[in-house]
Amino acid sequence: MPNTINRVWRIARPIDGLPCPDDFTLTHEPLPEPGEGQVLMRTLYIGIAPGVRPLMPYAGAAPDVAQRGKPDQPNDQQPDPSRIRVGERMRSGIVPSSSPFAGGTVGQVIRSHHPNYREGDYIFGGRYWQDYEVVDGDASLRINPADLPIEADLSLIGRSSFTAWVGWKHYCNARAGETIVVSAAAGNIGMLVCQLARDAGLRVIGIASGAEKCAFVMQELGADACIDRSRDDVGEALDRLTPDGVDIYFDNVGGNVRNAIYTRLRMHGRLIVCGMAAEYNGAEQGTLPTGAILARRLRIEGFVVLDHDADYTAFREDIASMWHAGRLRWRQHIFEGLEQAPVALAACLSGRSSGGKILVRVAEDTGKDQSPAR
Ligand SMILES: NC(=O)c1ccc[n+]([C@@H]2O[C@H](COP(=O)([O-])OP(=O)(O)OC[C@H]3O[C@@H](n4cnc5c(N)ncnc54)[C@H](OP(=O)(O)O)[C@@H]3O)[C@@H](O)[C@H]2O)c1
Repeated sequence: MPNTINRVWRIARPIDGLPCPDDFTLTHEPLPEPGEGQVLMRTLYIGIAPGVRPLMPYAGAAPDVAQRGKPDQPNDQQPDPSRIRVGERMRSGIVPSSSPFAGGTVGQVIRSHHPNYREGDYIFGGRYWQDYEVVDGDASLRINPADLPIEADLSLIGRSSFTAWVGWKHYCNARAGETIVVSAAAGNIGMLVCQLARDAGLRVIGIASGAEKCAFVMQELGADACIDRSRDDVGEALDRLTPDGVDIYFDNVGGNVRNAIYTRLRMHGRLIVCGMAAEYNGAEQGTLPTGAILARRLRIEGFVVLDHDADYTAFREDIASMWHAGRLRWRQHIFEGLEQAPVALAACLSGRSSGGKILVRVAEDTGKDQSPAR
């Protein structure tokens, strides 16, 4: 029987710290109709990434993640259109953005009013946690399933991987023989940075939570060591593993881990600020080490992947060729069913996963037409 119901996750209330399933409501809604230039897609995979949390409403004052010197106002009153307010659909991709790389879900075209897409095509460009979504054809990409697995646009060649590649190529300025520390090393960005650094001849020290993820970081990603942040004191472990100090810290988490590492950076060390996953729930706050910056002539640089759209094709070719040549190890943690999306987000934000890119499989890819009833 064809499906006529569209299940949609909406934000139920302002959220206190780490999101839990009760912070969301799964509503049953009619199917949307595509307009001119749009397609209706059936969602197959949702990509889960930590960076969505600061866009969601906080119960009480939001953490000052962007360090504007004051906590954000309660998000429900924020005019910023990238925010997700109470009652709105939960999102994975970036909005507003017309960039075809800003999507957060992949799916299959059910109805097309766009000349580039036919029914049955795979498409990358959805944004929301829902079964069916209308997307703009011009702000989406058609996926070639013969090239890579369809979920690769959220994972292997997705925006987080693109971020890792951009951060490594443009900001690390690494030299063989240097020591790099990578936090959230078993996560999407971390696992790619570890491998790129290893291939370039650096000594790689990962940080992850749990023995299983640390084993993955060392045995499969080729790191020389991995600090288990759930068990070890990060500063003490670094003193033991890097007695001469750290040349580059690729910072995915901010917070207490960053505070422990900047004092261990060497003269002319680099701190590459990629993300602050430890701070998004409001539990931790990273500091700026002005004394160490001065005395050790440190360079601190942040970057945002959205500034690098022009590099996307080169990135994709580079990573796809590494993958096809068997030079890249990859891991995905897949949660089964749209109902699991809130659990998957909490796992991503807290690190309670088996590592790799976190995805939600919303529907089986049967390869067949799954047209809903009109
Ligand atoms: N600059 C940009 O343009 C850009 C673009 C995309 C993403 N980002 C950022 O890049 C970072 C990594 O993204 P990703 O998608 O690859 O995420 P991810 O690593 O898959 O997930 C975040 C990880 O952070 C770690 N973590 C959580 N709480 C922590 C804490 N209190 N202390 C230390 N570590 C903690 C956890 O790993 P363990 O438990 O294993 O430590 C967790 O799995 C995020 O901060 C994200 O917002 C930046």
